[in-house]
Amino acid sequence: MKSNTKRKRLLVDSVADRVEQLLVQMTMSEKIGQLSQLQGGSGVDQDILKEAIAAGQVSSLLNEVDLDTVNELQRVAVEKSRLGIPLLIARDVIHGFETVFPIPLGQAASFNPEVVKSGARVAALEAASKGINWTFAPMIDVSRDPRWGRIAESLGEDPYLTSVLGNAMIDGFQGDDLADAGSIAACAKHFAGYGASEAGIDYNTTNIPENELRNVHLRPFKAASEAGVATFMSSFGDLNGVPATASKFLHTQVLRDEWHYDGFVVSDWESISQLSIHGLTANDKESAYEAAAAGIDMEMTSTTYRDHLPDLIEDGLINESEIDGKVRAVLALKIKLGLFENPYTDSKDYEQISNPEYMQEAKSAALESLVLLKNENQSLPLSVSDKKSLAIIGPMADAPYEQLGTWIFDGEQKISQTPLQAIEHLITDDVDIHYLKAMDTTRSRDDGSISQAVELGKKSDVIILFLGEESILSGEAHSRADIDLPGNQVELIKAMSKLGKPVIAVILAGRPLTLSNIVDDVDALLYAWHPGTMGGPAIAEVLFGLESPSGKTPVTFPKVVGQIPIYYGKKNTGKPATDESCVHIDEIDAKAEQTSFGMTAFHLDAGYKPLFEFGYGLSYSEFNYSDLHVNTNSLTIGNSLRASVKLSNIGSCRATEIVQLYVRDLVGNVTRPVKELKGFKRITLDAGESTVVSFDIHTDDLAFYNREMKLVTEAGDFHLWIGGSSATELRTEFSVTKP
Ligand code: NOJ
Repeated sequence: MKSNTKRKRLLVDSVADRVEQLLVQMTMSEKIGQLSQLQGGSGVDQDILKEAIAAGQVSSLLNEVDLDTVNELQRVAVEKSRLGIPLLIARDVIHGFETVFPIPLGQAASFNPEVVKSGARVAALEAASKGINWTFAPMIDVSRDPRWGRIAESLGEDPYLTSVLGNAMIDGFQGDDLADAGSIAACAKHFAGYGASEAGIDYNTTNIPENELRNVHLRPFKAASEAGVATFMSSFGDLNGVPATASKFLHTQVLRDEWHYDGFVVSDWESISQLSIHGLTANDKESAYEAAAAGIDMEMTSTTYRDHLPDLIEDGLINESEIDGKVRAVLALKIKLGLFENPYTDSKDYEQISNPEYMQEAKSAALESLVLLKNENQSLPLSVSDKKSLAIIGPMADAPYEQLGTWIFDGEQKISQTPLQAIEHLITDDVDIHYLKAMDTTRSRDDGSISQAVELGKKSDVIILFLGEESILSGEAHSRADIDLPGNQVELIKAMSKLGKPVIAVILAGRPLTLSNIVDDVDALLYAWHPGTMGGPAIAEVLFGLESPSGKTPVTFPKVVGQIPIYYGKKNTGKPATDESCVHIDEIDAKAEQTSFGMTAFHLDAGYKPLFEFGYGLSYSEFNYSDLHVNTNSLTIGNSLRASVKLSNIGSCRATEIVQLYVRDLVGNVTRPVKELKGFKRITLDAGESTVVSFDIHTDDLAFYNREMKLVTEAGDFHLWIGGSSATELRTEFSVTKP
């Protein structure tokens, strides 16, 4: 252990030494060049680009994925520029490269850090084989608004789940050592508050009080910084009146002074030059000043640093030492990545892209991301022995591109295995498959196809509908105000439900859709998110019972859009709703007097509960929780307690349950959420098997930011629940006492 620490120290020293050796040789123009990221790829004049690289004016390129070009440009940087500093080659490798894993929100449904880590590992290996050494992932914006298109790219609504899975992703991308072949630098984005944009409109203003910012939105970023994420990216958003890209509070006070983060921060795409569009600055020079002074190290695509930092230094507004600090962080990453020793990439050093092993990993991730939301009368799994014909209907049944989801620049749709293909492959010849796409896209409104679907349904023993939304309906700048199933899909479901046949709906989508208008019309509902390259086989194996579904919702499913934001970790309010206190709009007497007496916090037309709560998901088996206990009811600050529960598989098949532990701090210096996830475990049990599942909770895990913005664990009483979703009622208590 000691010698390891020493070795690390030596390495750190040598990185720092090497940085200084370079820095002393650099001109100011070369230093500013190291803070500049430009666009590569087709459409960019290669001669101009090479000239700029040779002149030491470019530190990083994004979106250049042609390996020969990458190597050629690296050669210009290494052999033609004065100091031979190699380039960072950046790309949005978000949930896979050519082999696409489920969208991050789908991966989060697995509650499995190992799945998330291996997805990132495969993505890193494939991307690195093309010369990419830096990805802009993970996106760890806590996302509580399904209208926001980028919720697809998030790890859901919970700060703890996002922290654990975000760190797993960082681990997968960065590997054990950044210098290893196949390790690429990760980027924690978007710092910060981007996920809380008003009305779920992308890029919109965010207003988040500091206490909530620290207790919710900053937590995954703090965890990422502690996990050694190589870079951060600033958010496009205006946070409390100051665009995040100009926020000294975020980038200097919190990130550097409080968290002692030593990586570097890149702006988002032109987010520095956009400061004037926000109305914070009058021109690019002021924008460059605001961003540089706030703590942004590298500028993505716009050129305000290159154009104005020399004057800002000349004017004495920015110190040379501030520039040196930024350059040091950038150079340190290039050294740690081993780029000075190995600037070029030979794809022969890597496994074949999309090889069977990577495809298998993508399938396991897709399997674990599937969430069974409804299964009336055990309609699933389907047994083919007593079914002679299946109707497979819907625009998402055989849509190789659409099942990949958002942010798949390099995703290869030719290798996608669709649900239709997988079902055809899986079932025997004596079962007839009647397939109808029915709608051109999920948004189509052609009534004729519904009658065709009905005819097909009549001829079939069971109807499987593949519905949802195409990839392009979520992702950056693709927010929706109405998140019902688009087009004629609701009408299609209703028509099929009248046939008296079992109706199974499989939804492929980038967000939790509002499904209360169809949930009663289907017998079973399987949520597949956008499951990626291997989504088809994963879905088929679950539908036909080769695997039991195990995913749980990483985000709350609202009944209607008007409930948003709705999330399990809400505050209690002074008038919390109960089933008894909720009055439905239809029950109100027109002459009833207005009163606040006995009234609570709910919607007259939607109540106070969601359609499906956070952490919810069924399996083909059934689990029972009992004997919840803690090893001590009184915990002194600085210590841990052990909470245990007996978990029994009381159903008829082997299955996996995601056991979740929640706490509530009953009284705080600031009000605390009604429940907070503090632990989860995936447990697989055979039918009839039981086990004891335990969690250790340290008092540090109970800490929160108080009114003074100090991280504290307060003495007092706590509730603790363990169960299969955030609605679990199996509860015990404990107290925290001062030492
Ligand atoms: C803008 C997006 O907000 C960011 O997440 C992404 O990494 C950059 N563009 C680069 O493509």
